[in-house]
Amino acid sequence: MSVALGGHGPYDSAMNCKTAQAMLWLVALAVGLPVFAISAALAQTPAPAGQALAFDRSKGNCLTCHVITGGDAPGNVGPALNNMKQRFPDRKQLAAIIFDETKRNPLTVMPPFGRNLILTRQEIESIIDFLYTR
Ligand code: HEC
Repeated sequence: MSVALGGHGPYDSAMNCKTAQAMLWLVALAVGLPVFAISAALAQTPAPAGQALAFDRSKGNCLTCHVITGGDAPGNVGPALNNMKQRFPDRKQLAAIIFDETKRNPLTVMPPFGRNLILTRQEIESIIDFLYTR
C-alpha cells in the first residue's frame, strides 16, 4: 500500500490522509468489536439476560411447556421450574438437561437446545443463573 500513514509520504494529500484515518478507524473497529463481544460473553451474565432468553419465544421458549414464576401464559407440558437451586444443586446436571434432555429421556418432547444449536453454552449458563433465582 502506498499511503504513508504518518502523513509524510510522497503521495500525501488531504484526501489520502482522510482515507488513511478512515482505514485506521475501520481496523480499530474490526479489532475492537470482537474483543468487546468476547469480554461481554465471558462476563458472568446477570439473571435478567437469562430471563429474557428463557422467556423469548424464539430462543429458550421455556414457558411453552413450563410454569416459571414471573412468566406469562405458561404451558404445563413439563414440570414447573421452581426451587431450582434446591432441586438441582449440581449446575452441570441442570446444564445437561437443557443441553440435551434426550440423553436422560429419549422420548422427551423437550428440544435439545444445545445439541440443536438453539442456545449456545453461554446462553444456557445465563438461563441457569436465572433459574437459580426461581
Ligand atoms: C416442548 C416442551 C418443552 C420446552 C419448550 C422446554 N421443556 Fe423442559 N421439559 C419438558 C418436559 C416434557 C420435561 C419432563 C422431563 C422429560 O420429558 O424428560 C422437561 C423437563 C425439564 C427439566 C427437568 C425438570 C424437573 O423438575 O425434573 C428442566 C430443568 C427443564 N425442562 C428446563 C427447561 C428449560 C430451561 C427450557 C427452556 C430453555 C425448557 N425446559 C423448555 C418440556 C419442555
